[in-house]
Amino acid sequence: MTLDFLGTLQRTHHCGDLRSSNSGETVTLMGWVNRRRDHGNLIFLDLRDRTGITQVVLDKETSPLGHAKAEAARPEYVVAVTGRVRTRGEGLANPNMPTGDIELVAHDLLLLNDAKTPPFSPAEDAIANEEVRLKYRYLDLRRAEMQKNFAVRSRVAMAIRNYLVSQGFLEIETPFMTRSTPEGARDYLVPSRVHPGHFYALPQSPQIFKQILMVSGFDRYFQIARCFRDEDLRADRQPEFTQIDLEISFPQMSTIFAVAEGFLHAAFSAAGIELPAEPFIQMTYDQAITRYGIDKPDMRLPAMVDLSAELTLELRDTLKIDPTLPILGFTIPKVGEMSGTARKALLSEIRASFGDSGLDMLDIARLRTNPTFVPLAETIEGKLSMEMALFNNTSHTADDLAIVITPKPGTPAMWNYDPQWIYKRVGQLRLELAKKYADKHKLFEQTGTANDFKFLWVTDFPMYEWNEESKTWDAAHHPFTSPHEEDIQSGALVNDKGSVRALAYDVVLNGTELGSGSIRIHRKDVQAEIFRSLGMSNEEAHERFGFFLDALEYGTPPHGGIALGLDRIVMILAGASSLREVIAFPKTAKAIDLMVDAPTTVSDTQLRDLSLRTVTRS
Ligand code: AMO
Repeated sequence: MTLDFLGTLQRTHHCGDLRSSNSGETVTLMGWVNRRRDHGNLIFLDLRDRTGITQVVLDKETSPLGHAKAEAARPEYVVAVTGRVRTRGEGLANPNMPTGDIELVAHDLLLLNDAKTPPFSPAEDAIANEEVRLKYRYLDLRRAEMQKNFAVRSRVAMAIRNYLVSQGFLEIETPFMTRSTPEGARDYLVPSRVHPGHFYALPQSPQIFKQILMVSGFDRYFQIARCFRDEDLRADRQPEFTQIDLEISFPQMSTIFAVAEGFLHAAFSAAGIELPAEPFIQMTYDQAITRYGIDKPDMRLPAMVDLSAELTLELRDTLKIDPTLPILGFTIPKVGEMSGTARKALLSEIRASFGDSGLDMLDIARLRTNPTFVPLAETIEGKLSMEMALFNNTSHTADDLAIVITPKPGTPAMWNYDPQWIYKRVGQLRLELAKKYADKHKLFEQTGTANDFKFLWVTDFPMYEWNEESKTWDAAHHPFTSPHEEDIQSGALVNDKGSVRALAYDVVLNGTELGSGSIRIHRKDVQAEIFRSLGMSNEEAHERFGFFLDALEYGTPPHGGIALGLDRIVMILAGASSLREVIAFPKTAKAIDLMVDAPTTVSDTQLRDLSLRTVTRS
């Protein structure tokens, strides 16, 4: 088969453009053969580009040459078609396609390129084997769903840029080849050829640079910034990802919240969703933990309910449950009818998952509009009142599943060093069960309206996190975060690290942390104190951050900022379950790019140039 040259032929329209109002026009479309149906004298080609599909008809009678070429065309061949737009006959319109009222009657067809039979068809939904999708990413990206995701991504990024520029932010780029930025992951390193044995680190975020830009007087900085982190990957974590990163001088926390909410409104609007005008709700970290058991609550599900007051002290005594420990209940909506056997199976599954952690499952009940609780065999007196309380304290519909958890007699070990542990463990169960029932009962179905998106701010994070392994206090956010002024003044930084609250906040959407930020330390004495409190010697602080401590001494304004994950925002807007659906060339969970096959070994010459030698670790 000979292929045609394009010559001077120009495309006049895209494949998603034509409507019956174009009837009678002569147009030229170019794209890929999505499907081909051969009816003898008539061949139908569905021609596809990123805007959509147009049905093209080749009639042997009127266009014998075009028809012959169409006979040779196969899926994914690249063709150009010139023809006349015609309204489809009575009953032949396809209401499922925007161009479904018309077809293009071709009088000429050019075969611009052929294509091997693809390992999967871009005309179909995603295949299950993601490795194949990633290896042939160019084919996967041709699928309508992926094209849509990237159109959303581009519009969202543009809307955010426009919004921030309109609010007086300057977009400033910061280096990729830099030194370590402490965001809690391992660094990707770049060896220096000129300085043997020395390495640049790729930035885990532009954190220090953006703070220095405030020292430099830029007042409002932003960047759609690529970040690099060598950490364990999950569906919502990639080794390189994109942040909408910003910093503001002289801000209140509310200044930063207003800007972030402003650009989220703009971003959602660009994706066709108008968020309500009210500010996002706010809760402290402690409130989030006691109500949801997690610092990134999914507000689409009801909160946990503290049922402690429902169990009388006498009964606690009989059951030997520590009076200081909470009894928590929660509901999972829309679970529906559940047989006795299924209920018992769930009960033992949950009990087994608790192991010897010190928690027990008191009951599972189904909440009905008219509650008739059927106690399980091992009835405990007082259970009914707890169910009643759960029923009365939750807004629920019939068919919700109700779960009540108590601590087991005796004090659980975890409780000793994390007083919030029970809340966190029950919160985890709440999410596990929601996940279990999510698909079947369509718990998180997206309706394409603002109702699908539940935002909130979580504030007052703890400043420090106890690291049980190294028996040290680590910075919960990063070491440039300012503690509450009172906690500095009270001496808690030294005496009671666990109680120190940070001026740190997260913006959370549907159980995903979209972004994190803080008011920063702008005084050198406080910064040095924080480094010390994290166990860093003065020498080490100087070695790692001396340039920054120096900068703080030259008139640093109070400042603060935030960074939001662009990939995560787009993932949620696209209704996707993994960042890989919204990053054009993502890496696998093992940090491999299957298409280009990276990382790779390099030649001995390259290694020699860099003064490196590889060793095999046993
Ligand atoms: P943080 O480390 O919390 O804060 O990151 C901010 C946001 O970036 C996104 N994110 C990621 N997205 C995809 N893959 C990853 N591996 C990944 N890691 C983080 C998340 C997260 O909420 N410099 C501070 C911000 C600041 O204080 O201003 C920072 O980077 O959406």
